[in-house]
Amino acid sequence: MRVGVPRESFPGERRVALVPGALAPLLKRGLEVLVEVGAGRLAGYPDEAYLAAGAAVAPDRQRLAADCEVLLQVRGPGANPAAEADLALTHPGQVLIGLQDPLGSPERSAAAAARQVTLFALELLPRISRAQSMDVLSSMANLAGYKAVLLAAEASPRVFPMMMTAAGTVAAAKVLVLGAGVAGLQAIATAKRLGAVVEAYDVRPEVKEQVQSVGGKFVELGLETGQLSDKSGYAKAQTAEQLARQQEALARYVRAADAVITTAQVPGKRAPLLLTAGMMKGMKPGAVVVDLAAEQGGNCALTVEGKTVEVEGVTIIGPVNLPSTMAFHASQLYAKNVATFLLNLIDKQGQLELRADDEIVSQTLVAKGGEVVSARVREALAAAKSRPEAGRGPEP
Ligand code: NAI
Repeated sequence: MRVGVPRESFPGERRVALVPGALAPLLKRGLEVLVEVGAGRLAGYPDEAYLAAGAAVAPDRQRLAADCEVLLQVRGPGANPAAEADLALTHPGQVLIGLQDPLGSPERSAAAAARQVTLFALELLPRISRAQSMDVLSSMANLAGYKAVLLAAEASPRVFPMMMTAAGTVAAAKVLVLGAGVAGLQAIATAKRLGAVVEAYDVRPEVKEQVQSVGGKFVELGLETGQLSDKSGYAKAQTAEQLARQQEALARYVRAADAVITTAQVPGKRAPLLLTAGMMKGMKPGAVVVDLAAEQGGNCALTVEGKTVEVEGVTIIGPVNLPSTMAFHASQLYAKNVATFLLNLIDKQGQLELRADDEIVSQTLVAKGGEVVSARVREALAAAKSRPEAGRGPEP
């Protein structure tokens, strides 16, 4: 069976789905790997490195799509508005594996389903221990959390560590991290390594110990919040009233911070609003906000997706696709995740075996045989037609 790796076509995407170092276990299982010419170049993996690792290089995209039973991508057709031409190259039964934004833009997954491909969305991986080594959301969020702190430090007029010099003492910067999931925990650890004093808040109180273990102080707001995570460990959407109380309680921590890094997300929903324009008016001059939820609507009312803006002396950075800025390591981690996922779909003879009783398969399978088969994606399709914004919280 042949596995293809196309060059990513999404604007600005530098990552590649498979790196030479991840090929060995696939080849060992009897798979052949075909890489589109130049697929890894922007991530720092030249064609020669793939050839040396045992892959073949396809001269163009048409050839790759025609010759492969499976295609591995970072942004599959569901997560790439520029993928229409690619979809036209697919053939019925071809297996497409990658990020598909299945809950955010389910209509694109439906368009792929109409091509009769077998579509897998890695965003839908269940959060079970067996799936941890396949979890691209965690690998990418971890890198984004690291980079967010570097962006904040770079944009800040202050230094992060305490410095005792002959010219006087400089106090350590105060960093506030909102949302202490995978990205938030790495942001805490990175800010701490840079010498900042770090506080963090999350609606899920169970993360307190994790925050402390990476050197942060957990902010207790003392709010009655009820059941705040679902059975898969993700946060549930808050009501508008809960978010309003949270905003009020957070205000004094926001005023004290030199940098705020926001990472709060709720799967399939617009990101919750944690920082209103009113709260930001009280921030220190020169304070920096890095909003890692910019692509999901932002945790901060003043975020502009993909831009850095300054409002009354506060810099607000709304980065998009941070993992792509660390394409070498992001691709290395993504490749390990996606190769492990693929091996789970392959039997000992090197043939595809999609076991319906395997929850990794059943939960990530979005489309097969011309139909959208994922219940969550079907729901998202129905909701996209009728739903106004929910779970966002009051704008100021
Ligand atoms: P995420 O990216 O969906 O959200 C980021 C963080 O924002 C979460 O910690 C969430 O609780 C928080 N949040 C949501 N609404 C908020 C609000 N209004 N105010 C403050 N914070 C808010 O989540 P992520 O980082 O992907 O994972 C969350 C947790 O899932 C992890 O901490 C981990 O424990 C667990 N996990 C388990 C895995 C496994 O077992 N295979 C894999 C990955 C994560």
